[in-house]
Parts: sequence; structure tokens; C-alpha cells
Amino acid sequence: MFNVSALPAFSDNYIWMLEGDNSQVVVVDPGDAQVVIDALERNNKALVAIFVTHHHSDHTGGVAQLTEKYGVQVYGPSDSSFKGITIGLKDGDTIEELNSTFCIKAVPGHTLDHICYFYNDQIQPKIFCGDSLFLAGCGRVFEGSMRQMLDAMSYFKQLPVSTQLYCTHEYSLANLAFAQAVEPENKQIEQKIEQCKKLRAAGLPTLPSLIESELQINPFLRTNHKVVKQSALDFAQQPLTCELEIFSAIRTWKNNF
Ligand SMILES: [Fe+2]
Repeated sequence: MFNVSALPAFSDNYIWMLEGDNSQVVVVDPGDAQVVIDALERNNKALVAIFVTHHHSDHTGGVAQLTEKYGVQVYGPSDSSFKGITIGLKDGDTIEELNSTFCIKAVPGHTLDHICYFYNDQIQPKIFCGDSLFLAGCGRVFEGSMRQMLDAMSYFKQLPVSTQLYCTHEYSLANLAFAQAVEPENKQIEQKIEQCKKLRAAGLPTLPSLIESELQINPFLRTNHKVVKQSALDFAQQPLTCELEIFSAIRTWKNNF
């Protein structure tokens, strides 16, 4: 078991810090080494490992400095173009850190190397999902296909509803504005906007989210719902014959929103 806290970095990134027993710490996607060093020293913690979800520099930029200073292992996708990974992972692998087991799921789409770390706890499951799923949104499809990203959404949809979602960016309010454009009558989106506005006004993260909540508000998980489908049709101005076409239309709409 471990506790999780957010280390804000850059303009809207979070480096997640997992604190286990004996002051041991794992960080996820340390784009900025100094943010992590400061937190370790401030809290008198020992870094024992780094988890990387994908190769983008705002997730990996601090890895070299941290490994040089602390000599820890770096978990990450085995097929990554990022060269700082010391333990390569692929879909279906499991790893042990902080006396906890993490299951690895490959979710290509945002990048081809993107993986998630799922802590499948009976009481409080958690997923560290980088830039694949966000609160009320999903990552841009830069390297993979829309099909791959929709498959990733199918994976998130079948997780336990109590799973906490630790994504890497504070994009929630912008994502919710889009979600509301897709589903103007969705009361849960309206409530979530109010909740997130209060948190941001207090200087707090809107994360983690919950899968249970995402199933109610996230348009990218709701592409088989009637209103989302109709909004996709209105945007595309052409017939959409399957869920993949609906998902693609919603993702394309969001790119220009
Ligand atoms: Fe990214």
C-alpha cells in the first residue's frame, strides 16, 4: 500500500509521488528532476524507482538527472524511443514496488509506446495513465490510430468503477467545457465543472478522478450513447456508421475546440 501526492511541474503537469513504507518513494513521469529532488529532501524520502508511461519529454526530461543522483531503476515501455529505461515493460507484465503489484497495460494511441500502471487493489485500485485518459478527456492521437485509442477507451471502461485515475495533466476544466458542448444536458458534467472550479480556485488538483465518474462525463468513453452519437453526426455532417467513426469525429472536433 502507498499514498499518492501530486508534484506540480511546468504549467499543467503533475508528477505523481507514491510513498510506501520506510520512506520509500516512486515517481511517475518525472519531466522535471528538480521538482522531485526538492520534494524528496523536504519530506526526507528515498527514491527507489521511476515509472515512465511514454517517451514525451515533459514525462521523461528529469529521468537522467534523477538516475545519476539516486541510481534507481527506470521502468517504461520496452519499445520506447526514450533511451533512459532500464527495465522494459510490455502488455501483461507485472512489477513489484513499494510492496505493491502493478499490472502493465499497453494503450497505444497518444504515442505508440504508451503504457499504464494499474494497481489492482481490492479496496482502492489506482491507475497511472499518463496522457491516455484524462478527466473528461483523452490524449491527442499523435502516433497511433483512432482504432488503437478507442481500444484503450474500451480497456478503461472495464476497470473497476472505484479505480482512481491519475493522469498527468491538469486539463480538466478545458475538457469539461468540451464535454458540455457534446452533451449540453448532462447534469453530471455541470456538477463536475462546479466541483473542479472550486478545487482550482483553492489551488488544488482536480485529480485523481474515478472511473465511475468518467463513465458519466467523459465523451470519449460515451461514444455509444445517443446524445454523443448525435453530436458527432452534427459535427461531421456526414453519416457515421460505427463507434470508431463516432469516436474519430469527437476526437477531431476536440482537436479544434
Ligand atoms: Fe504526452
